Amino acid sequence: PIDSAPATSRRYHRLDISQPAFWARDFRDRDEVFAQLRTEPGLTWHAPPPAVFPHSEPGYWAVTRHEDIAFVSRHPELFTSALGISMDPMPIELQRPTTFFLTMDPPQHTRYRRLISSAFTPKQVRRIESQIRANAAGIVGEFLADLSSGAPVDFVDSVSRKLPMRTISDMIGIDPAERDAVAQAAEAMFGSSDEEYAALAERAEFFMAQFGILHRAGTDLARLRRTEPRDDLMSAIVAAEVDGHRLTDEEVGAFMVLLASAGNDTTKQATSHAFEALVERPAQREWLLEDFDARIGGAVEEFIRWSTPVLHFARHAVSDTDVAGTRIRAGEKLVLFYCSANRDETALDDPHIFDITRTRNTHSGFGGGGAHFCLGAWLARMQLRLLFHELLTRVPEVALGKPEYVHSDFIHGVKRMAVQRV
Ligand code: HEM
Repeated sequence: PIDSAPATSRRYHRLDISQPAFWARDFRDRDEVFAQLRTEPGLTWHAPPPAVFPHSEPGYWAVTRHEDIAFVSRHPELFTSALGISMDPMPIELQRPTTFFLTMDPPQHTRYRRLISSAFTPKQVRRIESQIRANAAGIVGEFLADLSSGAPVDFVDSVSRKLPMRTISDMIGIDPAERDAVAQAAEAMFGSSDEEYAALAERAEFFMAQFGILHRAGTDLARLRRTEPRDDLMSAIVAAEVDGHRLTDEEVGAFMVLLASAGNDTTKQATSHAFEALVERPAQREWLLEDFDARIGGAVEEFIRWSTPVLHFARHAVSDTDVAGTRIRAGEKLVLFYCSANRDETALDDPHIFDITRTRNTHSGFGGGGAHFCLGAWLARMQLRLLFHELLTRVPEVALGKPEYVHSDFIHGVKRMAVQRV
């Protein structure tokens, strides 16, 4: 049983990484702070972010080293996901045990994840490769048309957001007329700590409103597919059984929230960051083009490491446990900072340099391994490979404006990035 009374008498670390202002800083400044934390013995204890959701926690342990993140991620029996997986305390809707497999532990997690995992294996993803390639070609064609006027074009709107949205919408079976609204709700939900989306005081309400939009889209679509199944994921979800029962509307809605959010805003952010990195480094771009098929696999891993679209996820200790020599009490929260693991000098050579030629790339961009490792990793990799083939072979030389970043403590995002022909 989990002791629900975590210690409150711990000393907070002097480096404050919880305030929204910290996450509004340039990521290179944040990297320096995490570099300092990684040198501290054991884990460091931090104040919680300003309370957004109704209940608060006294603080959390920052897990910043690659090795420690891997340890926590691979031991769900010691570190549960069911008490919330974000730095903010979780809204109660997300904590209900049967809604969201991201917030379940094995063996329940395994039963729910299995319902859709066969759609995301490398073999299954290869079956939709030609469709994704055609979408990527179409998107880059539209982008070239946008660029041809000579005026600046927003790369995020014109390119980054389109392919993930089309891919996951095709897979789930979302009606083309609804896709934009679904993608916007997913973006706003992930980026909800950015002041452009919602003032701090309204954040919880705003977050839940976006959650509600996605959830409703899921239950509406489920109703259609129950009567008229098609060859899509939603039809498979409504037909599936767990423990001898069909999924309820509540559960189906949760699948939609998870797939539409995780499937959209992550690959989108990796696309923007990777494009920026390659435009700024023509020598690497040329190296990649010299033998694209052989080199793109490694390049995509570097896109993920460099961009780290998902900054963190959290766990709670099930019982008293030691991590890196620090005693963690039952019920205490640990935040796994993937953005820090992906700059960890002990796991990577020259981690602060973008280098698609690196051969050892033990990154945590898709998580630290174990049961919750990103289900969409192969899908994301394929989309990036096919999209960058189109971008690098067809787009002429361009100049970039300064990207505007999402001020979010959860997603490393680019809001807008102007591109112009030179
Ligand atoms: C989980 C990152 C693309 C679906 C995760 C996790 C991370 C992550 C860090 C948590 C892993 C953990 O807790 O150990 C990313 C990145 C992506 C990406 C960086 C793109 C560059 C996608 C796509 C989908 C997807 C395209 C498609 C639907 C999921 C799901 C989970 C997940 C369903 C929950 C897995 C579970 O709890 O068992 N992802 N993801 N992701 N991702 Fe992704």
